[in-house]
Amino acid sequence: MKKISLTGIKPTGILHIGNYFGAIKPALELTREYEARYFIADYHALNIMKDPEELADSIRQVAAGWLAAGLNPSQVIFYRQSSIPETFELSTMLMAFTSKGLMNRAHAYKAAVQANTEKNADPDAGVNMGLFTYPVLMAADIILFDSDVVPVGRDQVQHVEMAQDIAQAVNFNYKSEILRVPQAAVQDSVAVVPGLDGRKMSKSYGNAIPLFAPEKELRKLIMRIVTNSQAVEEPKDPEASQIFLLYKLFASAEEQQALAARYRGGGMGWGEAKEELFRAANRELTPLRQRFEAFMAEPEKLDAILKQGAERARPIAAATVARFRKAAGI
Ligand code: ADP
Ligand code: TRP
Repeated sequence: MKKISLTGIKPTGILHIGNYFGAIKPALELTREYEARYFIADYHALNIMKDPEELADSIRQVAAGWLAAGLNPSQVIFYRQSSIPETFELSTMLMAFTSKGLMNRAHAYKAAVQANTEKNADPDAGVNMGLFTYPVLMAADIILFDSDVVPVGRDQVQHVEMAQDIAQAVNFNYKSEILRVPQAAVQDSVAVVPGLDGRKMSKSYGNAIPLFAPEKELRKLIMRIVTNSQAVEEPKDPEASQIFLLYKLFASAEEQQALAARYRGGGMGWGEAKEELFRAANRELTPLRQRFEAFMAEPEKLDAILKQGAERARPIAAATVARFRKAAGI
């Protein structure tokens, strides 16, 4: 029996290259070794996105994004979270095993409280219950499908650990392995993709390179990467430059070595370094962009793929809920 890999992406806007290298690509690599269940976390997105058209469009973009990146829907069970109502049954049951203190410690909630406190606002201003209980819904997503590994970026590790704690609390109570305990899988080499300004690439920082940016926009964004004032002649440390860190994502080992030598040797300016990055990025992203556009042009096909995925997913989810209900005496 193959082990199970599961992950979800929240459709809260367009995908960027941090999402691709930090989440999508490593998850797709795992599909060779694992049985994969990948989904679009649309209920998680609802916590922050209240505009229906924007949310619907974002769901479509993320679905097309996974498929363009190479997800094979006959191999991977690929679905929308909102198509699996068992998620909410499990979520409610898990609530009974989740301490409020655990939720108080979740990063996203703590960050919101801290931002409010700094502004002298009510600590819970703007915090809805969906945000507060976010880790329980995520634990339900994971536990429902008997997940062994959960490929995620570093920022999501805490949530997977909470899912572990919650599953263990259930198993401990019933003195039996009712729920499978998941492990996070973080790919260290690409754990944090830097953005245009050198901070972690994130759509909330406005420093992201969209994964499917048209060629011209891609070039323009790369040219906007912030650099220091070192002159062309000066030798440069490749590892200290986010241009090079981004280049490494797209280039072969030999290409990386060759370009690193040019950085260290001096005589290469930042403009040229950016040009090299653009060439490598555009080479890898052009076929992806073309597939993405083809999927976006056929929304019925996307919907049909997601519907089929949900049909395959629901019996698995129902079995987990049934097992838990029986153990619980419900
Ligand atoms: P954003 O920070 O842009 O809002 P999300 O939180 O929606 O991105 O992230 C979706 C997935 O992509 C998560 O698994 C997350 O860990 C991963 N991810 C996001 N940004 C990066 C990054 N800069 N480097 C590596 N992985 C990332
Ligand atoms: N919380 C994740 C994120 O913001 C998305 C997500 C929801 C998820 N449910 C999940 C990831 C289950 C892995 C497993 O990126």
